[in-house]
Amino acid sequence: MISQQVIEEIKYRNEIEEVISGYVTLKRAGSNLVGLCPFHSEKSPSFTVFTGTKSFYCFGCGAGGDVISFVMRTENLDYREALHYLAKRAGIEIPEEGERQTGVSRDRVLSMNRDAARFFFDSLKKSREAQEYIAKRGLSAALCRHFGIGYAPASFGALFRFLSDKGYSKEEMQLAFLCSVSRKNNRSYDIFRNRIMFPVIDVRGDIIAFGGRTIGQDPAESKYINSSDTPVFNKRRNLFALNFARTSCAERIILCEGYMDVVSLHGAGFTNAVASCGTALTPDQARLMRKYSKSAVISYDADEAGQRAADKAFALLGEAGMEARLLKVENAKDPDEYIRKFGKEGFSRLLDRSRSRFDFRFSSILQKNDVSTPDGRVKAAAEAAEVIAGIPSQVEQDIYIRQVCKTLELPYESLKGDVGRKLAKREKSLSKERDAAILRSTEGFGDRVNPDRLKNIGAAGAEDAIIGILALYPELIPQMAGEELRLTPDDFVTAFNRRVYEKMTELGASFDVGLIGDSFTPDEVARIVRNTVLRQNLTENGLTVIRQCVEKLRRNREKDTLSLEELIAGKRKKQKQNERSPQGEGGA
Ligand code: CTP
Ligand code: MN
Repeated sequence: MISQQVIEEIKYRNEIEEVISGYVTLKRAGSNLVGLCPFHSEKSPSFTVFTGTKSFYCFGCGAGGDVISFVMRTENLDYREALHYLAKRAGIEIPEEGERQTGVSRDRVLSMNRDAARFFFDSLKKSREAQEYIAKRGLSAALCRHFGIGYAPASFGALFRFLSDKGYSKEEMQLAFLCSVSRKNNRSYDIFRNRIMFPVIDVRGDIIAFGGRTIGQDPAESKYINSSDTPVFNKRRNLFALNFARTSCAERIILCEGYMDVVSLHGAGFTNAVASCGTALTPDQARLMRKYSKSAVISYDADEAGQRAADKAFALLGEAGMEARLLKVENAKDPDEYIRKFGKEGFSRLLDRSRSRFDFRFSSILQKNDVSTPDGRVKAAAEAAEVIAGIPSQVEQDIYIRQVCKTLELPYESLKGDVGRKLAKREKSLSKERDAAILRSTEGFGDRVNPDRLKNIGAAGAEDAIIGILALYPELIPQMAGEELRLTPDDFVTAFNRRVYEKMTELGASFDVGLIGDSFTPDEVARIVRNTVLRQNLTENGLTVIRQCVEKLRRNREKDTLSLEELIAGKRKKQKQNERSPQGEGGA
């Protein structure tokens, strides 16, 4: 375990605004900061960083937490890894930890991947067939070395034996997606066979996965096999060759479909090329690209599937806040073949000719409508306004409004007005969706964090208020068990809040969500933060509200045990009280 003191130090030395600014463009809004949420797609900012409480919360998707849970989510790390990550960032030494470990660790899988990559690399030199294939595809020895490209022999057990000799167990190999176990005879066999192997390396330089292209002729064999998710790899959140591209892609990143495209591009000097590993581009990958680069050039295959995929990629990159352009490969099926045919100068020209999605869409609007007639121009303008309203960046919107006005000979103000009206309509339906999502996530269905909540909304509301206020003012926690309130975990109705309160009594005044990441999931931490966020602007005294809420919990419990008569009597008493002090739950 990492000591509480060290965790506090790590949190203290990693300013939440500073860390989050590395991922999200934040704007000041009063005493807080807001930006577009990195955890879901949105066009207007609901993601808020509270500098006072050093926490964040997204009113759109309910993600929330502190700086530690933020990096857990964005970097896909567990609690302990996130602490190490932030410690490293702030230059803090974490003192040696005691025994730990059940199951297979990340480090173990990473070292196994490294050993496997070395094995594949050496096997490439030993196989004539593989060498011939590599030569045929125009991959130089230098390029193979640069990417660590290797070869998985056409054998069911070569890698298994190699890794066994290195001391890795069957279970570990399975977990790393290197070997599988036959259901028939329970024997291990290598997953990648007779394939050219592309290691996927993350930005830290760790080998996290492999993609393997078959060199066999059997059409029944799938062309590619990609690592599925392992303890160190999530295919939706990583990009092939980002480890190389990250240093040269600040201005522009090239997004391809295939491993071979990326390798060829790098070989020709376009070291800013990446590809998603065996999936269509995901929102996580788009945001990852945004983290390293301002604009993207989508460079997909020329076929129809490629162009459809490009359309989706456009949308995702735009939502991630990236400027995207499309490059059209002509007279070749993909960028790899294009470079082989037309060289790097040819590809440079394609890059220069890449166009924005708007340009592509606008030219099809112009084709569809007869803009020599007033009617056609009105229709074209309306369609263009709709497209422009869907573009997240205001600067871009303005550029396109001017472009359309020029082409269609329209006054700027009129088209701008049209776009504004369409935007307002979109915003309205968006905010409706958002409200509905918030309601769903807190008031019942889909409440996975606190499923008991639905059974007892009243009591759960009081609990949420207590938890929220205590997390906001942990110095109050030691008073809870005292003479006056005697609040115990048993007073809590919902199991989730009970667990939180137990943790609070354990940690006392030093309670902080940053300390509980080993026993609470990021979603659970987010719920606690939600409860604090909603009570940050409490006008009443926190302790007073807690008193009322504890009272409410007690009454709620009595309701279960009291007779009807007693209950009615109690109600009368409450009514009288209310007449004297007409105030509700207060912040609950
Ligand atoms: N892909 C996959 N599984 C397949 C086919 C493709 O995972 N059966 C993924 C791979 O990541 C591949 C990418 O989709 O790199 C693009 O596919 P394709 O264009 O068919 O492959 P190339 O990379 O162009 O490979 P090659 O030039 O060797 O055909
Ligand atoms: Mn190809």
